[in-house]
Amino acid sequence: MIALRENFLFISVICIICISFAVVTSDGWISSQIASTQSSRKALDAEDMYLNDEYIRLEENDVIYSRQWWEKPVVIEEYSLIFFPVPKVACTEFKLLLRRMMGLPYDMPANGEVHLIQDPKHNNLKTLDDYPLEEAEAMMNNNTFTKAIFVREPKERLLSAFLNKFVKDKFYFRNICCKPLPQDQEQQCNEMIWKQNFTYFLERTQDCHDPHWQIQYDVVDEKWWSKIDFVGHMHHIHVDAKSLLKFLRSNKDGLTAWEKVGKEGWEKNGEFLQQNGAGHATGSEQKLAKYYTRELEVFVEEKYAIEWKHDILGFDEIHLYGDEKEQRRIEKRNLRSHHSASKINVSIDPNGEIINRE
Ligand SMILES: *[C@@H]1O[C@H](CO)[C@@H](O)[C@H](O)[C@H]1NC(C)=O
Ligand SMILES: *[C@@H]1O[C@H](CO)[C@@H](O)[C@H](O)[C@H]1NC(C)=O
Ligand SMILES: *[C@@H]1O[C@H](CO)[C@@H](O)[C@H](O)[C@H]1NC(C)=O
Repeated sequence: MIALRENFLFISVICIICISFAVVTSDGWISSQIASTQSSRKALDAEDMYLNDEYIRLEENDVIYSRQWWEKPVVIEEYSLIFFPVPKVACTEFKLLLRRMMGLPYDMPANGEVHLIQDPKHNNLKTLDDYPLEEAEAMMNNNTFTKAIFVREPKERLLSAFLNKFVKDKFYFRNICCKPLPQDQEQQCNEMIWKQNFTYFLERTQDCHDPHWQIQYDVVDEKWWSKIDFVGHMHHIHVDAKSLLKFLRSNKDGLTAWEKVGKEGWEKNGEFLQQNGAGHATGSEQKLAKYYTRELEVFVEEKYAIEWKHDILGFDEIHLYGDEKEQRRIEKRNLRSHHSASKINVSIDPNGEIINRE
């Protein structure tokens, strides 16, 4: 219990640091990142690059180069861009955007075919591993290339994975996480899907691995994070994506990606990424509090601690139960909604105090 408390305190401290970080830098972060990219943007020749301390070797089995999955880094030479898609962070929309930047059709595929846009075999996007090792290494070390990633606050991302891959698409979780279990456990697993048990889902993220709930920090090898020069956030995805597009410049006609593909946005939906057309609704704290108990929040803070540990990810902090008063407020609200239709006679007075009328 004491250990748990200490852990919690420790996490709270980290969180407070993160909050300050996010507050101080949320907007400044991108501009400063872009500024530093710009100022370090010198034409180095290959020999200079080898003399540069920061030159990093790409190995055949580095995650960014070797991983056989859908979220491979996408390269767009025209804009000198290497983009690292992260599952559950508006991936479909980003792939449509990237296709558009490559001059390919960008319509949202008809229902049920969204996977075609995700699959590198079908989406016609060029990925880092399409290049020979030496070329990919040179690009990753080349300051002219912008290496961009968008991330999402982990609690929100996990809830989104739960709602999408457990509640909505029952087959997804069943195939990946229930089927491999021994028969009795498999049956229990199916039952938990039926009951939409968030606790069960979170527990299983620890033994049943999948990109949708994988730690985002692991999408890029530790050593390569120093080369990432743009980190955008799901929370202000529209603003961040706009900054990125305004920064990227075509080496064909000198126009920015914003001027060429961003400004007009999607034909149907107005400005792109404004409403998240891929159906990943941005979770509000209220929505999170509907699913997260204090225990589940602590669970995620512990198991996904690495996500908050790295300043580069710079999450807007969501802390549902950190503050005692806030916690009581949420617990009361939960109590009210859970019991409003039940026999327990509890009501809340205008000051938020519980009146128990028994
Ligand atoms: C870096 O990339 C730019 C744009 O593709 C290219 O013109 C330049 O030659 C590259 N620099 C090196 C050292 O490879
Ligand atoms: C949900 O899952 C947890 C963890 O596996 C379990 O302890 C709990 O009893 C389950 N709740 C329901 C309603 O099945
Ligand atoms: C709940 O409290 C109200 C107000 O005191 C009372 O009128 C009502 O009968 C109670 N309901 C139950 C189920 O006890």
